[in-house]
Amino acid sequence: MFKIETAATAAYIIAALLFILALAGLSKHETSKAGNTFGIAGMAVALIATIALAVNRSISPLGLGLLVGAMIIGAAIGLWRARVVEMTGMPELIALLHSFVGLAAVLVGWNGYLDVENAPNSPEALKLAAEGMTGIHSAEVFVGVFIGAVTFTGSIVANLKLSARIKSAPLMLPGKNFLNIGALVVFFVLTVWFVIDPQLWLLVVVTVLALLLGWHLVASIGGGDMPVVVSMLNSYSGWAAAASGFLLGNDLLIITGALVGSSGAYLSYIMCKAMNRSFISVIAGGFGLEAGPSEDKDYGEHREITAEGAAELLGSADNVIITPGYGMAVAQAQYGVADLTRKLRDRGVNVRFGIHPVAGRLPGHMNVLLAEAKVPYDIVLEMDEINDDFDETSVVLVIGANDTVNPAAAEDPGSPIAGMPVLTVWNADNVIVFKRSMASGYAGVQNPLFFRENTQMLFGDARDRVNDILAAL
Ligand code: TAP
Repeated sequence: MFKIETAATAAYIIAALLFILALAGLSKHETSKAGNTFGIAGMAVALIATIALAVNRSISPLGLGLLVGAMIIGAAIGLWRARVVEMTGMPELIALLHSFVGLAAVLVGWNGYLDVENAPNSPEALKLAAEGMTGIHSAEVFVGVFIGAVTFTGSIVANLKLSARIKSAPLMLPGKNFLNIGALVVFFVLTVWFVIDPQLWLLVVVTVLALLLGWHLVASIGGGDMPVVVSMLNSYSGWAAAASGFLLGNDLLIITGALVGSSGAYLSYIMCKAMNRSFISVIAGGFGLEAGPSEDKDYGEHREITAEGAAELLGSADNVIITPGYGMAVAQAQYGVADLTRKLRDRGVNVRFGIHPVAGRLPGHMNVLLAEAKVPYDIVLEMDEINDDFDETSVVLVIGANDTVNPAAAEDPGSPIAGMPVLTVWNADNVIVFKRSMASGYAGVQNPLFFRENTQMLFGDARDRVNDILAAL
């Protein structure tokens, strides 16, 4: 006989496999669209199975109405936000979405408490007591609420910082590391206490403690480390979801949470390496933060070039590398850049792209923009793949990039970004830097590249200047 419970379990396994395929697909340009499709299919299967289960467990008509209403409102808001968000606003949107996962985990945890610990004679509580699982349940409630609340406020602060509604400079409370470690120690002690004697006030205290810790953790991380923070919060939101999965007895939520938690942690690790930040120092909220204020060293005079001059240089080049950065996204110059690439390639010039792992404002930012403008994937290379080729390159076009091409990171141990791997564009014969002024980049550090002998500045909006070059060519 067909049983909804069995079918739902099977559907959950299929959904979990689809989520794994989605992650695998998203790891490469060529398969990323398929990866997205797998993810959407997995989520659709999971939602249908979850609703079927709820209906089968005789959800009240009011409950079903609320469920469907919440889904319609949520889907409408989600569709609208995804349609209108600018690529540059993506990280802050993602941070906001993480905060919802955190809040959901807190609510699920509190609900678990009200259903079991607070109602010892409820069928659920009696069942757990008979199985000797009440203590485990209490631990799940406590840990879920803690991770969820940290994720919730942490993500809100990340959203406010990324959208520049609060200062991105790190908050430096005296003894901040002790505050963080102290909060963790208190959490462990309270967890043990709650498992032995699950009192309401303990849950209230841990909720408030975790809300404050999440806020403090992210507030004390500086702007330069923000990309890592977003993927770290991604990881936290995964663990929060997994904790909810344990509470709700939902295997799919546990699997999905673990996938998000571990892939977010791994991405944080990769980005830390790319920015030369220690993982522990970022996780711990700015332990040993090295970034200092930008210095006012005099690097001499810079030289300028016109769009016509740049077109002339490009016209006689054999090898060109384009290193885009955040400014290309701001100017929406990717379409012009794609046209320029086509034009140069038609003339037999070898044009390639060098992508720094943290160029722009979110992982893969430049890759997405270039894919959108239909630049062929095979000429878009990672930093490590292209860094040795700059010395055989006639012209490098640095389009709206700054920190990611800063030689001080490689050459000046005193620089706030010292040790961050960068694109070694200065080894090329000619470097043309597209930007609007001599202003510094995201990290607020002066860039000596602009004053090198082989560098020329092409001032103005990147899109306008690229179009000028196209016209001149
Ligand atoms: P940045 O160092 O941020 O520099 C971007 C440059 O673009 C600026 O110097 C700006 O100069 C120029 N620009 C802005 N608008 C422009 C326009 N319309 N036309 C032409 N130029 C324009 O960029 P990057 O090299 O991509 O480095 C990324 C930085 O962001 C790193 O410090 C990284 O750590 C950080 N970060 C990265 C991420 C991720 S995950 N990718 C997330 C958050 C932060 P002007 O103002 O003079 O035009």
